[in-house]
Amino acid sequence: MYKINDNYLKLPGSYLFSTIAKKVAAYSEANPDKEIIRLGIGDVTKPLAPAIIDRLHSAVDEMAKAETFKGYAPDLGYEFLRTTIVENDYKARGCKIEADEIFVSDGAKSDSGNIGDIFAQDNIIAVCDPVYPVYVDTNAMAGRTGTYDPTTEKWSDVIYMPCTKENGFCPEIPAKTPDIIYLCFPNNPTGTTIKKAQLQEWVDYALKVGAVIIYDAAYEAYISTDDVPHSIYECEGATGCAIELRSFSKNAGFTGTRLGFTVVPKDLKCGDVSLNSLWARRHGTKFNGAPYIIQAAGAAVYTEEGKKQTGEQIAYYMNNAKTIRDGLVAAGYEVFGGVDAPYIWLKTPDKMTSWEFFDYLLENLNIVGTPGSGFGPSGEGYFRLTAFGSAENTVKAMERIKNGKA
Ligand code: MLT
Repeated sequence: MYKINDNYLKLPGSYLFSTIAKKVAAYSEANPDKEIIRLGIGDVTKPLAPAIIDRLHSAVDEMAKAETFKGYAPDLGYEFLRTTIVENDYKARGCKIEADEIFVSDGAKSDSGNIGDIFAQDNIIAVCDPVYPVYVDTNAMAGRTGTYDPTTEKWSDVIYMPCTKENGFCPEIPAKTPDIIYLCFPNNPTGTTIKKAQLQEWVDYALKVGAVIIYDAAYEAYISTDDVPHSIYECEGATGCAIELRSFSKNAGFTGTRLGFTVVPKDLKCGDVSLNSLWARRHGTKFNGAPYIIQAAGAAVYTEEGKKQTGEQIAYYMNNAKTIRDGLVAAGYEVFGGVDAPYIWLKTPDKMTSWEFFDYLLENLNIVGTPGSGFGPSGEGYFRLTAFGSAENTVKAMERIKNGKA
């Protein structure tokens, strides 16, 4: 008789955004006349920029001709994309990253889950609390998190690093030493950031204790404040302790077309074993490459036109972030984030729990957001709104909040 991976049975509930989608679908079915504004999942709403669409079209045409047709993509991704990434995302910021340290993939979500494959099961992970749920859930699936306590909403073997108003939503070095540290900045869900000097402390700490940092920089394109690092490799010594995850979803609208990459520096070694070689082995064995047309479109993001057009989209979303921040502050809410990130993190009013506030917004104002407690116990009493809606809907949502009615 076969056996299942019963770690899956330990997982509480369903994936956060699936739970929300089900709740909203049920409400919408029961109230078909209501116009629901969705500011929940961080999914973009603007279409792909013209430079990207043009390149997609021409790449499709290439696939129609024997001379330019492409089959399987190279293991690490196409050279043209990897060198463009190195030039624009790393060299331009003074980071010493080379093309054979870039692994192109179908997105940062998959990579953030898959990266666990190259680590032993008995590593202790540390996560921010609140946190993007994929890091914890995928480690739970791998049997790395111990048992789940529904009362505390914590796993027995996970180190939780509370990120609260008191510490500026920046984690403190934990009392117990972790092996794998997950950091995400600009942060999902709190929309807050880390200064370069603070991130350097984490790098120094990881090097000292022999930990590896999985650094999720999916939202770096939203940074406008000086002194907030776009990459962990801006910190000294980071190539010896950090893996960086990057995405084309948020900077260029690839949530539906799927493209991302992971940086595993060759300096990164466990004893004398190179993590770059392990990840290359994993990637080559389990993944057959992001489609050529999507990688070609990804390279178009870095062209002059591509940068200009995607920059305009980011400015559009950040204008929404400002609308939300200003609207909430005017309505008396306590608000965080939304300056260098497309997420706004607010304190729920009147001591409502995160899910109570979710229900209130959905049922009374017909607005969907994300309950903070879905991201971890320290998210209780908070709520996340995304700036990825349309400008019209964002303004409308703030009017509903101001007027207390839909
Ligand atoms: C979110 O809403 O947190 C993100 O959209 C999730 C993701 O990027 O996978």
